[in-house]
Amino acid sequence: MRVLISAGPTRERLDPVRFLSNRSSGKMGYALAAAAHGRGWETTLVSGPVELPCPAGVERVMVESAAEMAEAILSRAAAADCVIMAAAVADYRPRQAMSQKIKKGGGTLVLELERTQDILAELGKRKKSGQLLVGFAAETENLLSNAAEKLRKKNLDWIVANDVSKPDRGFGTSENCVTLLGVSGRRIELPLADKRLIAAQVLTVITGGEL
Ligand code: PMT
Repeated sequence: MRVLISAGPTRERLDPVRFLSNRSSGKMGYALAAAAHGRGWETTLVSGPVELPCPAGVERVMVESAAEMAEAILSRAAAADCVIMAAAVADYRPRQAMSQKIKKGGGTLVLELERTQDILAELGKRKKSGQLLVGFAAETENLLSNAAEKLRKKNLDWIVANDVSKPDRGFGTSENCVTLLGVSGRRIELPLADKRLIAAQVLTVITGGEL
C-alpha cells in the first residue's frame, strides 16, 4: 500500500515579510502519516510549514504555498494507492505578491485575491481505478450537508467531516471529533479523542475494516 497524505496550512505570500495562512498545526495529517507507516504502508507526507518533526519512516516533502502543494501532490498521486488530503490549503492567494514590503498609508488597504487550484477536485478528476481518495471538510456550519456535497463534487470515496467551530477540536488541538461519510452512504461518527486514535480509526474505516 502506497499512501500520499497532505498536512498543515499553506502560506500565500503578500510581500517579503507577510503572508495569508490559517491555524492548521499539521497534527491531524502527521498522525495519519505515523499511523499509515505503523501499518507497514509506504507513506509520503506533503507538509505545509509546521513545527512538527517528521514521523519515523515517513518520506516528507515540505512546501509553502498552495501552488507548491499542488505540484508536490499532483506529481505523486498517480503512484499512490490512497491519497488523503488533511491539509488546510488556501482557497485564495493575493493576485500580486509585492517584491517590497507594503508601506502603510493614510486610508484603508484593499487586497485583491484570486482562487488557488482545488487540488482535491483535480485528484478526483484524475482518480485511477482502485485508488482510494479521501478528503477532509472543515466546516463551521451545516457540517454534514456541506461535507456530503464535497464528497460528491470532488469524486471522493470518503470525506472526514470536521466541525471546526468548537475550541476542543479541529484546528490546532490535540484531539478531534469527526464524522466519516462514504460514497456508499455509510456514516461513521468518531467521538472526541486524541488525533492519533482518530487517525488510526480513519485508516481502519477507509480500508473497509470494522472499529
Ligand atoms: O492541522 P490540525 O491543526 O491538526 O487541524 C486539522 C484540520 C482541521 C486542518 C484537518 O482536520 C482538516 O479539516 N483539514 C481540511 C481543511 C480544509 O481546508 O478543509 P476545506 O473544507 O476547506 O477543504 C476541503 C478539502 O479540499 C480538504 O481535503 C482540503 O485539503 C482540500 N483542498 C482545499 C482547498 C484547495 N485549494 N485544495 C484542496 O485540495
